[in-house]
Amino acid sequence: MSHVIGLKCRECGAEYPAGIQNTCYECFGPLEVNYDWDCISNNVSKEKIAAGPTSIWRYADFLPVESERRIDLGAGFNKLHRAERLGKELGLKELYILDESVNPTNSFKDRVTSVAVSKALEFDIKAVGCASTGNLAAAVGAHAAKAGLPAYIFIPGTIEIGKIVQMLVYGPNVIAVEGTYDDANRLASEVADSHPDWGFVNINIRPYYTEGSKTLAFETAEQLDWEVPDHVVAPLASGALLCAISRGYKELEHVGFVDSGTVRMSGSQPLNCSPISTAVQKNAEVIPVRDYETVAHSLAIGNPADGYYAKKEILDSGGYAASPTDDEIIQAIHLLARTEGLFTEPAGGTTVAGLKKLVESGHIQPDERVVVYVTGNGLKAQDTLLKSLVRPKVIKPTMAEFEALLVHKHDIHRQETAPVLGT
Ligand SMILES: Cc1ncc(COP(=O)(O)O)c(C=O)c1O
Ligand SMILES: [Zn+2]
Repeated sequence: MSHVIGLKCRECGAEYPAGIQNTCYECFGPLEVNYDWDCISNNVSKEKIAAGPTSIWRYADFLPVESERRIDLGAGFNKLHRAERLGKELGLKELYILDESVNPTNSFKDRVTSVAVSKALEFDIKAVGCASTGNLAAAVGAHAAKAGLPAYIFIPGTIEIGKIVQMLVYGPNVIAVEGTYDDANRLASEVADSHPDWGFVNINIRPYYTEGSKTLAFETAEQLDWEVPDHVVAPLASGALLCAISRGYKELEHVGFVDSGTVRMSGSQPLNCSPISTAVQKNAEVIPVRDYETVAHSLAIGNPADGYYAKKEILDSGGYAASPTDDEIIQAIHLLARTEGLFTEPAGGTTVAGLKKLVESGHIQPDERVVVYVTGNGLKAQDTLLKSLVRPKVIKPTMAEFEALLVHKHDIHRQETAPVLGT
């Protein structure tokens, strides 16, 4: 018997068989996966998980893929770091960071893509695709290559060169669009409509795709000996990631793995493109924004597909949302690197900067057990980061020139963002 019944409308509850579909024919609401929870509860156990693969697929009983053919490049099973030095600097007693920069294509998008491409194979699709702010593109390129499928990837033309190089190397068809992510997404949606046998992971097979991020909650709880944190902070773009993490914690309670799956959910979005954070701060509707520009390219979505649900999840759980400036985002990248030895891209900088602001404003309490999701790797955004660093001065290989450098060293170490020997 399968643990997947089909799809269900999040608004009116209408049910559909599992297929390539993301909106309700009755009310146009978004669809989610409809599981048979009796079947799941009878099958899962902590022992089975512990003996499972060292990837997201150790939680396969909670995921919507029914066949054994999985496209598994090894996403997930990442370390939950105890962040003592950052915690001390921010005044938090128990802070952890789940580091997603070590996934196969260096962001959390490998989780959602591994699930979506595996599910797409069950539908016998002829190609996969996505609209992407940069990270999803690499994940789809890599997983499509592994599956032996062509890929069509739509991006805004302005994203970081590191991300463009990475996505191109897997050999997909990359379509760079004039305008923003929202323009690329609109075109990708039209293409998906005109090719019903292509699976666009975050468009027409989105209900399966978002399920992949639940594994972040499972992985966190497993590493906390099956306890949940008090409060988590996640980055926000479409809002899907935050909703999925919250769902993951609730599902753990549902199957009896934890006493309570109630976790305060907080988010962070760059000030220059912050429709969800603004809605949370004003307790108002999510109003799409246009013509945005921020260093956090991967979070730059003006019209967030899951904005309404993310806002609701945050407020219902007693969380809050921050909106750091671009400068605060860059400073937070340095703060994380200097205190914890983790190098993140501006999406992670946004999350850490958001954490700092939420602690300072009292929305996160010093004695809460806090988990922060750092979702992408700094090496992808070197062009952005280079502007905030002092390049090392080139010297002759002599002791005299080395000693001369050390004269400046003391001053250099006092600088917030330039921990290098430089001029
Ligand atoms: C590194 C990174 N973190 C977080 C997000 C936000 O994800 P979501 O659109 O599910 O809110 C993205 C989206 O592209 C991303 O690339
Ligand atoms: Zn409906």
